[in-house]
Amino acid sequence: MSYDSIETGRRLVLPNDTIDPTNSSSRSVTSDCKDLSSPSDQWIADLVAKLQGAMPASNDTERCNAIKDVLVEHIGTSECPLDSDLLEAVAAQYGRRLLYKDPAGTFTVVLMIWGAGQGTPMHDHAGLWCVDCVCLGNITVESYEPQPARTDGSGLLDFEKALTVEAGMGEAGALIPPFEYHTIHNPHMQMAATVHVYGGEITECNIFVPEGSGYRLEVMPLGYCD
Ligand SMILES: [Fe+2]
Repeated sequence: MSYDSIETGRRLVLPNDTIDPTNSSSRSVTSDCKDLSSPSDQWIADLVAKLQGAMPASNDTERCNAIKDVLVEHIGTSECPLDSDLLEAVAAQYGRRLLYKDPAGTFTVVLMIWGAGQGTPMHDHAGLWCVDCVCLGNITVESYEPQPARTDGSGLLDFEKALTVEAGMGEAGALIPPFEYHTIHNPHMQMAATVHVYGGEITECNIFVPEGSGYRLEVMPLGYCD
């Protein structure tokens, strides 16, 4: 499984944002960017404003708990108001769409779309904390714990499954390194979508591909789809 490494995701620009000209995903600030008249854009803007209020915490655990509360309250269990094009599944693999990138690099908000049966390989989060919440359908999250390094020279790694969680709309989870190994998949015929808040921007991660009796590490670039 691989991602499109070219960042083409759309980014919501809020009125007070400073645009980074070196960031290809940034749009110019024009009057239409300030017009958050669509319910979808307004929903994202309101979420971002609440997330900004949750960022100043004394440590990552407190911050992630505050973000979890924001996501659960904002997403709730009523119908997701995001535009249908944002919620469209991608044929080849699950989709990642950038909803917001904090100009200071503090956090990003990414929407992930899970078609029927789509999911991730086991992966880490490149050392970034992440809080996610289901906004459509249901997903399964499996967490893994790394095991002591092998001495057989195979270069393979070992993990043990630690926890399996089924999550539905309005249910959130957090991942704080070094506890950062998991898979997410949608085992259902209905689509699912999740909102992920990262403590920065994740541009690549390690994935762990089953091989023989263990796992082989590969680096996977992460991009955004249209
Ligand atoms: Fe993940």
